[in-house]
Amino acid sequence: MAALPSSATVAVIGAGTMGAGIAQVAAQAGHPVLLHDTRAGAMARARDSITKSLARVVERGRMAEAEAAAVVARIQDAETVERMAGSALVVEAIVEDLAAKIALFRALEGVVAPDAILASNTSSLSITELAGALKHPGRVAGFHFFNPAPVMPLVEVVAGFASDPAVVECLMATAKAWSKEPVRCASTPGFLGNRIARPFYGEALRALEERTADVPTYDAILKEAAGFRMGPFELLDLVGIDVNWAVTNSVHDAYFHDPRFKPFRIQGEMVAAGLLGRKSGRGFYDHREGAAMPLPAEAPRGPAPAEVVIVGDLGPAAALEARFAKAGLSVRRMADPSAATADPATVAHRHGHIQLPGVRAALSDGRTATERMAAEGAPLVLFDLALDYGAAPRLALAKADQAPDGALAQACGLFQAAGIKASVIDDAPAMAALRTVAMLANLAADTVHAGIANAADADKAMRIGFNYPLGPLAWADRLGLPFLVRVLDNVARAYGEDRYRASPLLRRKAAAGLAFHG
Ligand code: 3HC
Repeated sequence: MAALPSSATVAVIGAGTMGAGIAQVAAQAGHPVLLHDTRAGAMARARDSITKSLARVVERGRMAEAEAAAVVARIQDAETVERMAGSALVVEAIVEDLAAKIALFRALEGVVAPDAILASNTSSLSITELAGALKHPGRVAGFHFFNPAPVMPLVEVVAGFASDPAVVECLMATAKAWSKEPVRCASTPGFLGNRIARPFYGEALRALEERTADVPTYDAILKEAAGFRMGPFELLDLVGIDVNWAVTNSVHDAYFHDPRFKPFRIQGEMVAAGLLGRKSGRGFYDHREGAAMPLPAEAPRGPAPAEVVIVGDLGPAAALEARFAKAGLSVRRMADPSAATADPATVAHRHGHIQLPGVRAALSDGRTATERMAAEGAPLVLFDLALDYGAAPRLALAKADQAPDGALAQACGLFQAAGIKASVIDDAPAMAALRTVAMLANLAADTVHAGIANAADADKAMRIGFNYPLGPLAWADRLGLPFLVRVLDNVARAYGEDRYRASPLLRRKAAAGLAFHG
């Protein structure tokens, strides 16, 4: 089925961040748009945010001023739902509450034409359940955008059990006509993107609860070491802590309280306190006019080592060797003597370490530094995952509890001498970036295992819906699946929780020596 013609009226109900963004996208594609919200002041705020958003586009030379004015003029306020009568497509972006969405769609059924499409921007609620409560469930589908809607290319077109394939096709074609990249999804909890993304927020909230790192430090590690565009706390503030809380709870409930999707208490408390993120002025950060942004923690300068000895193969961190050498450090390599006595099944996936006088520095394998030092004896400092060890401006480090403080200063001094900022965090299993990436890859593998998407679509959704620097499964392939399974097994053992169980598909591919791509 063809896309809706640009002359067709699109109604958007709910003029919050997402509703305003979707209205802008539809109006930019040439549609007359009707925007409706029952909350006082919501329409004026939406109009203001659309005007500012378009002003940025004009400022960057991507749109003429007259065109931006025409886009704004195409968006009309609709005081009542009855005004939607002539709309060909209604997109709802109201509160994430199934009963409220059902009530709205029931009211709309009696207003719009029989062939009008009723689409929901829900992030995680069941389209099947929503449609099932209506007289004509076939015309209902999910049309899920990502924040900021004018910028993120991904749109999930979600089919419930009863969705008419022609409606799904029309939304796919319409999304393309709106310059978006739609992916087709079945109505499963969290669909594709929000299912895979749960640990990006969950592991951060857990780290905050366990005081592994503070908010700006954790965000800085995820951005500057792991290469994400926003840290999880910044993103929570952008999306809305209440919106994310509703999504987390709905996915958790829908998966019968699978601990993988467990919410963390601190988030509920933020919501109860009215700290909702940018929209309320305060969330994990203070967004009020003139508020200072807190800085990430940075270790004091440690001594630069006279010599760096790389013992064995650093695996994913191998690029550090060239970086140390480029920084003028004297680097020597030696074989790992422990490799000879190691379990032959794991030896190919064990990584070496960096030997400094009095301390070893090694990439985390999911065990804490404390546990590893108890087994290996020598003072140990672990370093976290980086997207690109050859260029990352920051790395997280964690010291074994029984290692002397001087050991940490030496490890920091090594990375600092190579131009890398060292952020010291508590000795948590799999640290920050590694744990996040391992869990994202695990959830992506599980999404493929459950037949929700293939590996290519799962990765694509995360790259274009969330701007991830790599698809989680491509990242898993790059790190080595046996390594990733080991990391997850170690974290699962450390917490004694099913949350970290490795996906059977990840385990199977690792055992077979296969990858997700190619
Ligand atoms: N309207 C229009 N354009 C905007 C905009 C807006 N609201 N916000 C940003 N832009 C444009 C800018 O003009 C700029 O355009 P250019 O490339 O043509 O110059 C571009 O976007 C980049 O913006 P900035 O340079 O100002 O800022 P950043 O480089 O930091 O990018 C970002 C901002 C695109 C938001 C980036 O930080 C990012 O990708 N963050 C991750 C966002 C994400 O993960 N979204 C998904 C959230 S989950 C969700 O929505 C699901 C829901 O169900 C909860």
